[in-house]
Amino acid sequence: MERTKIKELLLAKPGQKVLAKGWVRTKRGNKEIAFIALNDGSTINNIQIVVDKSKIEDSILAKVTTGACIGVTGNLVESVGSGQAVEIQADSIEIYGECDPMRYPLQKKDTSFEYLRSVAHMRMRTNTFGAVLRIRNQMAFAIHEYFHSKGFVYLNTPIITESDCEGAGQMFQVTTLDLENIPRNKKGAIDYAKDFFGKQTSLTVSGQLEGELGATALGEIYTFGPTFRAENSNTPRHLAEFWMIEPEMAFYDIEQNMDLAEDFIKHLVKYALDNCYDDIKFLNDRYDNTLIDRLKSVIGIDFVRLEYTEGIKILEQAVADGTQFEYPVSWGVDLQSEHERYLVEKHFGKPVILTGYPKDIKAFYMKQNEDGKTVRAMDVLFPKIGEIIGGSERESSLQKLENRINELGMSRTNLEWYIDTRRFGSCPHSGFGLGFERLLLFVTGMQNIRDVIPFPRTPKNAEF
Ligand code: 4AD
Ligand code: MG
Repeated sequence: MERTKIKELLLAKPGQKVLAKGWVRTKRGNKEIAFIALNDGSTINNIQIVVDKSKIEDSILAKVTTGACIGVTGNLVESVGSGQAVEIQADSIEIYGECDPMRYPLQKKDTSFEYLRSVAHMRMRTNTFGAVLRIRNQMAFAIHEYFHSKGFVYLNTPIITESDCEGAGQMFQVTTLDLENIPRNKKGAIDYAKDFFGKQTSLTVSGQLEGELGATALGEIYTFGPTFRAENSNTPRHLAEFWMIEPEMAFYDIEQNMDLAEDFIKHLVKYALDNCYDDIKFLNDRYDNTLIDRLKSVIGIDFVRLEYTEGIKILEQAVADGTQFEYPVSWGVDLQSEHERYLVEKHFGKPVILTGYPKDIKAFYMKQNEDGKTVRAMDVLFPKIGEIIGGSERESSLQKLENRINELGMSRTNLEWYIDTRRFGSCPHSGFGLGFERLLLFVTGMQNIRDVIPFPRTPKNAEF
């Protein structure tokens, strides 16, 4: 007999023989009857198995413990109990994998997220992580579908690279040099000519620079891939390995860039509500009963669009009125998450797109404004998250770009290929990067970014 997934069984017509396979969540009952809650990961919901103990051998039933993997054949019948439409009356049970209840890492008594991170190889079997990872899957699909429907080309940019796109020096080096015996040149410096690629290479912090090459050839592209930052930030919003979506569009100015970012995020949130409602409802009811309202509210409103300079004025006024920030505020500072959240949560009560940042706190490639002080950057700031998207219109003038590179004292040896986009048929263009896990924090309402990726990489943690 063929197995039917539990998601389908729960919607199926009663009165047929079925085979369900999955992992036991709970078993309870009395002398005559046992009730098994079975889950196979296809849905947050379990199917209830009703066992007439006279029909199933004791030795088999004894092996049906929490965590065990079993197959159940029986009749799908209308359920008498509340909570489910159908249940299975078991004819036979096959044990695929026993599970010692004493040693099973998932115990009722310790389900803190911190503990679950220490058993990340098992935590996907919990309701919460099942829900989060199904939502993650749906969001990945929705992202591809969104760009595909708009005619964007999915471009795979390299993971191993020579260039530090963001210029923040937070790169993980990639090398095959013998660390016990590092080759040196005559000057005593590390001889990268002997390294695998013949030069110093790292894991990418962003696919943008290569994305721009794609956009200035194919028109509109997007990347969606792993991204690495060796920043030592142990915060609930930073990972050393995260996934980023980076659209890059020829002929878009900063306004069109903002329009796309806003439409994109709203589309994804709506998609989640339309396609992941069971999982979102579970997270809403279990952890944060404002989640669904928060998601709905984002779809229906216009994001605030605000100049950095205006944002600073609001924050300075807040300080004058008695708000205490850990970090000082004045024109020129990089906004901290506390500042971003003040603007979004306290002042406006909705997402804010902040533009016109000082050029000194932003990357070299951003389009410079006439004032000589600011650039056409845009950060999308979200409630509970802070920055969810960072982007900009790009500097398309060869001369201005070169001046900025020189001003910053950047090495040009591995940037000439990038500068060629401005030498040969330069065009106005824009793009942005959405942190996939930041989006998931918003959509799931989870508090810690380590809990929206299956296997988080953070300082001192690369297990599993
Ligand atoms: O603002 P960032 O650094 O921008 C870029 O990398 C640009 N090259 C994007 C572009 O214009 N194509 O990063 C973009 C987004 C952030 O807004 C944030 O959502 C996410 O990436 N992000 C991180 N997410 C998790 N952990 C980290 N350490 C992150 N750093 C950035
Ligand atoms: Mg940023």
